[in-house]
Amino acid sequence: MKDLFRLDNRVAIVTGGLGQLGLQFSVSLCDYGARVAVIDILEYKKDNNNEFDNYLKNGSIKIYNADITKRAQIEEMLEDIKKDLGIPSILINNAGIDSPPGTDAEENGPFENYPEESLDKVIDVNLKGVFICSQVFGGEMAKNNYGSIINIASVYGIISPNQDIYEYKRKNGQLWYKPASYAVTKSAILNLTRYLATYWAKKNVRVNTLSPAGIFNNQDKEFLDEYRKRMPLGRMAREDEMNGAIIFLASDASSYMTGSNLILDGGWTAW
Ligand SMILES: NC(=O)c1ccc[n+]([C@@H]2O[C@H](COP(=O)([O-])OP(=O)(O)OC[C@H]3O[C@@H](n4cnc5c(N)ncnc54)[C@H](O)[C@@H]3O)[C@@H](O)[C@H]2O)c1
Repeated sequence: MKDLFRLDNRVAIVTGGLGQLGLQFSVSLCDYGARVAVIDILEYKKDNNNEFDNYLKNGSIKIYNADITKRAQIEEMLEDIKKDLGIPSILINNAGIDSPPGTDAEENGPFENYPEESLDKVIDVNLKGVFICSQVFGGEMAKNNYGSIINIASVYGIISPNQDIYEYKRKNGQLWYKPASYAVTKSAILNLTRYLATYWAKKNVRVNTLSPAGIFNNQDKEFLDEYRKRMPLGRMAREDEMNGAIIFLASDASSYMTGSNLILDGGWTAW
């Protein structure tokens, strides 16, 4: 039973692998035996995460600097990854941009004035980037008749953000709303998952979505209070609480699962 979850000799790609969840996913995949290609636009600053640094040192993790919205860069990365680590069979489409509570009010104003350029930017990363990585890396998996793709969406792809949470900001004079761009791109991911799951089913490439609710990341106290009182489990998720689901979806433990959406949301969508 334990072996069902092992990922020995598999090569995984984690986009946005230097972010809060990406670091967690990369380390967990290595813990279960995979070699991991991390793709990010950021430069890595050492000592973010000791376990990550250890895997970096022993060659289980390799970092590739690339922008997921640029097809040529992603195609080049595939060739590099194949040379350096081997043929990939796991893809975590994790890179994304969001508007957490601390961000600029201009980017988070009323829907009526939401800047078109911001919409383009969010669609580019959250949708087009996932599309391109799926074409390039998923296409390689389909060629080899084996793979698991995990698209990271959000509860805000299933239901609307609750704007009441941010009333405290508006009371303080900041005209702040969680923007529609994030929610609609995350919804699109759900149907891209279903499309690809059926498209590649005969090629033995499974495609699923993981939908988290909010992860604790030192958000301001007022936000935390508002969020917690609406959350059935009464707290935000710890950053390590998605790891079990990632290993399940990446491994043969989920071999009969494709086109699904695994919701890890503390009960947020249950009421
Ligand atoms: N943190 C949460 O509360 C939460 C909740 C639900 C869903 N999610 C989703 O989980 C995923 C990871 O979120 P996170 O909180 O770790 O975010 P994060 O901002 O900490 O990490 C995202 C990473 O993606 C990278 N990135 C951004 N644009 C890129 C591009 N064009 N090319 C390559 N890399 C790029 C960033 O440099 C960053 O390292 C996202 O898709 C997010 O929408 C997060």
